[in-house]
Amino acid sequence: MTLARSAWTAIVAVAAALIAAQFVPAKRTNPPAQGALAPPPGIEATLRRACYDCHSNETRWPWYSRVAPISWLIVRDVEMARKEINFSEWGSYYPATRRRKLEWMGRALREGKMPPRLYELMHPGARLADADRAALERWVESGLATPSPGKTSE
Ligand code: HEC
Repeated sequence: MTLARSAWTAIVAVAAALIAAQFVPAKRTNPPAQGALAPPPGIEATLRRACYDCHSNETRWPWYSRVAPISWLIVRDVEMARKEINFSEWGSYYPATRRRKLEWMGRALREGKMPPRLYELMHPGARLADADRAALERWVESGLATPSPGKTSE
């Protein structure tokens, strides 16, 4: 009896906390682009489906990104990802910075680190086939071979 009651107390407490959490909204922003990357169409399609939700200002926020506490985690992830690489602000980076970010991309692709596993689980369409990964790696290499890597739409 007391066990049942404390279980109910716990359930009610968790429910109340979840409801209260909804009043602490996460800032799901998509600011305007400043010099968006303009890669070849095939590469752009791959980047869009596998990377842009986190590494651009064109995030397609899923419905669960509106539900705390998941919303807080997702917004934090996107903020961190945009800080590392933001394809919507590619043109605002110095050439040396672009080069560094391309080097990171090459490494992340070779190591199979990106897109993150959990994201792939939730977005099966974001998975990179070997051929997509190889094409991205080639594009990174060709970017590194040019003096001012990565063209932008500006
Ligand atoms: C679900 C969100 C998400 C997606 C999708 C995603 N990333 Fe990331 N990425 C992150 C986060 C968060 C970080 C920063 C923290 C870290 O390094 O794990 C990051 C960091 C990076 C870094 C720099 C740091 C490092 O670990 O090398 C590179 C490069 C990168 N991502 C490339 C990509 C590429 C390329 C894609 C698409 C194939 C991609 N990411 C897709 C979330 C994401």
